[in-house]
Amino acid sequence: MSSGQAAAGILLSGIAGLLQGQLTPSKPLLGQVAELLRTAAPQLALEASRYPAAQAGQELLYELAVDPAGGPSLYLVSDGAGTSSPPHTHQTWAVLLGLRGVELNQLFRLRGDSDGRLHKVGAEEAVGPGACLLMQAEDIHATRVRGESCYHLHLYGRALSHLPPFATRCFASKYE
Ligand SMILES: [Fe+2]
Repeated sequence: MSSGQAAAGILLSGIAGLLQGQLTPSKPLLGQVAELLRTAAPQLALEASRYPAAQAGQELLYELAVDPAGGPSLYLVSDGAGTSSPPHTHQTWAVLLGLRGVELNQLFRLRGDSDGRLHKVGAEEAVGPGACLLMQAEDIHATRVRGESCYHLHLYGRALSHLPPFATRCFASKYE
């Protein structure tokens, strides 16, 4: 096992100890998770030779530490210039940490009149190096890369393999 893999494993153990099995942690608790992630990030040995950056239009996902039981799992994501994601939920909590480049995040809320339309919450938020985005299971966001390719750490409350497929977590409706 490499030192980076060991560090990722230690991080997941620390998170498990912090959460004590909670599936829907509060925002303050997610803030503590984010601090653990921020502290561990330099130890993850994320060399570009091992985890090449995405080319323009490409989206790459690297598994750093995936809980075989489907619990909290850590991924490195590289999104190339010009890529974006439609509004979606994760259906689990998520902590995103910027490492390189900038991804713009727009949060949304479902309109109260339940016609399935979304409306924007606040302004687009730039998540660059060192910045964290905390999301709870029901939060909705859309992303787009600003400028060149970027790297972000994605820590999800459940392994992606245990979540519904991405397409089913997206909102097709228009928003305003
Ligand atoms: Fe997302």
